[in-house]
Amino acid sequence: MGALLFALNALLLFSELAFATHTGGTWHYKFDVKLKSVKRLCNRKNMVTVNGRFPGPKIMAREGDRVVVEVANNVQNNVTIHWHGIRQIQTGWADGPAYITQCPIQTGQRYVYNFTITGQRGTLFWHAHVSWMRATLYGPLIVLPMQNASYPFGQPDEEVPITFGEWWNVNTEAVINQSLQTGAGPNVSDAYTINGKPGPLYNCSAKDTFKLKVKPGKTYLLRLINAALNDELFFSIANHTITVVEVDAIYIKPFNTKTILIAPGQTTNVLLKTKPHYPNAAFFMSARPYLTGLGTFDNTTTAGLLEYEKPNSSFPSTNLPIFKPSLPALNDTPYAANYSQRLRSLANSQFPANVPLTVDKRFFFTIGLGADPCPKNQTCQGPNGTKFSASINNISFVLPTTALLQAHFFGQSNGVYNTSFPNNPPFPFNYTGTPPNNTFVSHGTKVRVLPFNTTVEVVLQDTSILGVESHPLHLHGFNFFVVGQGFGNFDRNKDPAKFNLVDPIERNTVGVPSGGWAVIRFRADNPGVWFMHCHFDVHLSWGLKMAWVVLDGKLPNQKLLPPPSDLPKC
Ligand code: C2O
Repeated sequence: MGALLFALNALLLFSELAFATHTGGTWHYKFDVKLKSVKRLCNRKNMVTVNGRFPGPKIMAREGDRVVVEVANNVQNNVTIHWHGIRQIQTGWADGPAYITQCPIQTGQRYVYNFTITGQRGTLFWHAHVSWMRATLYGPLIVLPMQNASYPFGQPDEEVPITFGEWWNVNTEAVINQSLQTGAGPNVSDAYTINGKPGPLYNCSAKDTFKLKVKPGKTYLLRLINAALNDELFFSIANHTITVVEVDAIYIKPFNTKTILIAPGQTTNVLLKTKPHYPNAAFFMSARPYLTGLGTFDNTTTAGLLEYEKPNSSFPSTNLPIFKPSLPALNDTPYAANYSQRLRSLANSQFPANVPLTVDKRFFFTIGLGADPCPKNQTCQGPNGTKFSASINNISFVLPTTALLQAHFFGQSNGVYNTSFPNNPPFPFNYTGTPPNNTFVSHGTKVRVLPFNTTVEVVLQDTSILGVESHPLHLHGFNFFVVGQGFGNFDRNKDPAKFNLVDPIERNTVGVPSGGWAVIRFRADNPGVWFMHCHFDVHLSWGLKMAWVVLDGKLPNQKLLPPPSDLPKC
């Protein structure tokens, strides 16, 4: 019955969406990147979309399947698409970050992303990965379990993707270009959105409200995705408790909560059990930011509506009371810390947590903001007349003008990158105390080389330079285990004793605590060039990023495959 329902669903999905076909274990999609006029908050703008849709189309596949997406760029901007959280084993050419694994797809050009989904299932998403193009280019990427496999939490009655986004009334490329020009922080967004809709708490927006229609006594799997650019979000549904069952496409030990926290780049699956009887009320599902940095932020609230189907037409259909959830305070760091402590891998025999128990290479990375001097003959609007910057180990990463992966694969790294990315910051200081006097960063295109199968531990230490802040650090090509986290400065002598090596959360994006640290471990078993960066686009633009070069192993299935013939040229 379940399979039949699924087949019917698939049929519906594909008759509705002409851009997708499914043959055998391969799913074909066509992405036409084109302008579309979209109106929100009474502002109309021409924005870059996939197939004229906002948010973009949902990609579906099963574990073990191949996904083939032909992307045609019909806009003036450069475009790439990243399949966030897909491991891309041996297929780094399909990963997507501009100038890391590929040159951008230029106007009028096309590129076919072709990859197999191996050993993963769950909720992920796709997004553009050049400049701030992902502001409007994003959509769900859902990997179903293999045909006869089931969820460890039981079959829900329905599944609903809920994607959070961030809306600017103006063109977002202008927003980031202006910030990079003047050195000031970028203009903040005008609204947050749920499936592209800001909801009734903004001016002129009531008709753009996402509505989730439910029946009493059922279980809904909500696939939550944070595709916002620069903000972590709290999310809650009024008068309902939800059960968290998965994060970043990894099953976890289920737990109940009223409110989840989700950083840009993270995904969270929750089960919503609806009330047993028609409640004669409607409920807001609301999201608003968790804010830690200095400066100005968009502190607005987006809301969608949870509506129960009436049991029969004699029930009134208007003037239902609407309940609103209470969300944590905007700066509730204790809530954030407590929430992330509750996330534990399922770690059973079917879904083990393969935490590296020994470490071949240890790294200590400071992550945070910094400054660049103001160029002569310019006045800058960043801190004390400088320009905002951001760095890892005080190096603000400079994107090359050709792709790192090509340079690596063809042995032409000379003049493109060097391999001197440091293990440690240039000098130790009280990272979360009084910052050093000189807060200028240095610049470079530096990578770190890892032999195949190296086990890696990285301490991610937030700094107080220009203010402590929570940073969602994302790694391409791997999942990692978050073996520890805490506040203040990481203590190499004391903190490792508290590491969780049994059931730590496995994920692809970790919120490094504001004014604290997180320690991650991964096994470098995927050859290629893998980007690691803050998933706040503003910090990404300012240079909070680096790349790992993972060398080939000895066996044929441990080598990076050659690039596809249509790989874009710079
Ligand atoms: Cu979701 Cu490098 O990004």
